[in-house]
Amino acid sequence: MNVLGIETSCDDTGVAIYCTQRGLLGQALHSQITMHERYGGVVPELASRDHIRRILPLTDIALSEAGLKLQEVDAIAYTQGPGLAGALLVGASVGTAIAFALNKPAIGIHHLEGHLLSPLLSDDPPAFPFVALLVSGGHTQLMRVDAVGQYELLGETLDDAAGEAFDKSAKLLGLGYPGGPAISKLALQGRDGAVKLPRPMLHSGDLDFSFSGLKTAVLTAVKRGLADEQARADLAHAVQAAIVDVLAAKALAAVDQTGLSRLVIAGGVSANSRLRTALQMASEKQQLRVYFPAPALCTDNGAMIAFAGAMRLAAGQVAQVPDGFTVRPRWPLAELDAPGA
Ligand code: KG4
Ligand code: ZN
Repeated sequence: MNVLGIETSCDDTGVAIYCTQRGLLGQALHSQITMHERYGGVVPELASRDHIRRILPLTDIALSEAGLKLQEVDAIAYTQGPGLAGALLVGASVGTAIAFALNKPAIGIHHLEGHLLSPLLSDDPPAFPFVALLVSGGHTQLMRVDAVGQYELLGETLDDAAGEAFDKSAKLLGLGYPGGPAISKLALQGRDGAVKLPRPMLHSGDLDFSFSGLKTAVLTAVKRGLADEQARADLAHAVQAAIVDVLAAKALAAVDQTGLSRLVIAGGVSANSRLRTALQMASEKQQLRVYFPAPALCTDNGAMIAFAGAMRLAAGQVAQVPDGFTVRPRWPLAELDAPGA
């Protein structure tokens, strides 16, 4: 079965084809980063308009890479939420229109489920059950994953997401958008321990996070004045270290608490190499295996949506030829039904 996946929840237009027998056959992605960069963040109206411009040419590219005709697509999966309403509407309307025209089923996918399942696309996928640390621009959550659609929330951020903490700190440091890669790059020149920042809720005893205090601490440091490039690099280094320390400690605490031996990291921040190294090193000291998506699949893409659609259909979700659609800009993962429900 060939599933066409469409992702347009934020600032990436992603289209891909996943085949249940042959794996990922083709994918095409357009990032809007350069368009939003000058505004210091995503401008929703510009994002929607650009998705409209890109989505059909990208679909053609993904199909030709897969060596398939549109008629050979068996089902369409599109991101139904959460995300920017106007941006979601583009993918949802195009996805359902293609499904309607082909007389094939369409399935609305939860964006975070896409991220959550993306490590399963690798050649050496984790088996269920596992603990998942979902770290993106809008979410920071620890979940217990028992099967497709069976997710138990173990802890989450009470305010800013980890990616947001990277992005806001980067802005205060005068770095570009998105902030994660920019901080990470500058941090390479920073010195360990040169600047001390708080590790919010590190010892809270639960699996929740809070990152808004970190932003205030960075603002204070910036206001006090950063003498030179070394001082900026030291601060970037400290921001990254603080975020990674908290993420790694809480993820390991979740592993302890559940007694599971597999940890999956997903979402844009899972591309962070310090986080990868920290968890890899911790795993070598205990009975733990850590799984990351391939770097290209960490941030938003169509492959994870096509794959999540294929997994849901394989798990028995009934999907029909659509006669309409809705998007869900706010959609807690906890409200997502299991495939057979
Ligand atoms: O999953 P994603 O592409 O979009 C959302 O669903 O939000 O995640 C984007 C987030 C941004 O906050 C970005 O700064 C962060 O992921 N990010 C990183 C890195 N690459 C992307 N954060 C830290 N280090 C990175 N290398
Ligand atoms: Zn995402």
